[in-house]
Amino acid sequence: MTDNQTNAKRNRSAEWDDFADELAEPGKLLQASFSGPRDKSSDIARKITVRPIKLKNGVHFQFESRLNNKAYHDNVPAERLKDRLNAVMSQYKQALFKTPEADVQVLANKKGALSLLARKPTAKAAEAPLTHNRNKSYVIPDGEPVPFLIALGVMTAEGKVVKAKYDKFRQINRFLEMVSDVLPELPRDKELTIVDFGCGKSYLTFALYHLLAVKEQLPVRIIGLDLKEDVIVACAKLADQLQWDKLSFAVGDISQYEGLSSVDMVVTLHACDTATDAALLKALGWNASVILSVPCCQHELFRQVSQPILKPLLKHGILKERFASLVTDAVRANLLETAGYRVQLLEFIDMEHTPKNILIRAVKQRQADNSEVLDDYINFREFLGISPYMEKLLR
Ligand SMILES: C[S@@+](CC[C@H](N)C(=O)[O-])C[C@H]1O[C@@H](n2cnc3c(N)ncnc32)[C@H](O)[C@@H]1O
Repeated sequence: MTDNQTNAKRNRSAEWDDFADELAEPGKLLQASFSGPRDKSSDIARKITVRPIKLKNGVHFQFESRLNNKAYHDNVPAERLKDRLNAVMSQYKQALFKTPEADVQVLANKKGALSLLARKPTAKAAEAPLTHNRNKSYVIPDGEPVPFLIALGVMTAEGKVVKAKYDKFRQINRFLEMVSDVLPELPRDKELTIVDFGCGKSYLTFALYHLLAVKEQLPVRIIGLDLKEDVIVACAKLADQLQWDKLSFAVGDISQYEGLSSVDMVVTLHACDTATDAALLKALGWNASVILSVPCCQHELFRQVSQPILKPLLKHGILKERFASLVTDAVRANLLETAGYRVQLLEFIDMEHTPKNILIRAVKQRQADNSEVLDDYINFREFLGISPYMEKLLR
């Protein structure tokens, strides 16, 4: 490459960098769309659209991807817009950004260098970002009394969400949104069996029953499992009070659980450390149609990960911890893929509400040739010198 070409490339990247910074400014980004995915595999959306929305905690940017006729939404706060735009831009060949001043087309060449082309604006500046009526879109709205939420102290008897429990309320709703998205992937010709591993106080387990058995009127039985006997006794008592006879609870360790021969969906929310992996392995053993799992506090690979080239990163405890945590979720996602699942890692809820923020959504595919994923995985684990719990799957 000549000096001129190098400079031109650098300038183009700098231009994109400045533009992506500007887009996060209030009122700047009115609309955007990404098209032409670089990877043609079936689990990459053909198109992603972006629009600003006003949430309770400020303006966010809603990324909508459509896959297999379903829309998936992810709301990104302004301070993380640039990172997300960079990540998405690296996956698509072109994008169109509409701002009050111009429509800007961004084209990526084969090497990923970006060029920007500005044209006359076609979108009118919105006076205010579209109000996203969170309450309306909540599966369980604030203000409508729901007996299990009242019993669990999330709502008052009048149906008002208790202020101190608002994060829990949002978390429950977000999870139910994810569950609603995957409903078409579940069998409809029989009673569904769902297990919530590491259910704890079982906000989610009750919420699942409320959504599926009460609201959707689906034939379903749901089982919550946890190590803590007192918590399980309290949950069973509440299920009894509600007369939810297809909701049951058991005390036990996930890895030892033998209570069921067939399960359609496995969920875990913040099951500690390798308890998440044990739950994923159980789900694989049952060939579950859907797995929704939000992991938490991964310690296993922190102790194992070792690679001299990564010394500048791994010598800092805090970076090593975050890195090991990401590696753990990469291991989980890839091993699920090798087992024939379509896997997506999604932002669960905003970082400010919890750092335990990645949701693994895995949907069983009918046919899958995943030998390449397995090869990639083996190279990855050898490079990092790790032997993760989930590898029991490979043995
Ligand atoms: C952080 S709490 C999350 C509880 C609940 N899922 C929620 O999000 O509100 C994690 C729960 O997992 C349970 N747990 C951890 N390891 C487990 C295991 N091996 N088997 C069963 N339960 C486990 C703990 O007892 C605890 O109640």
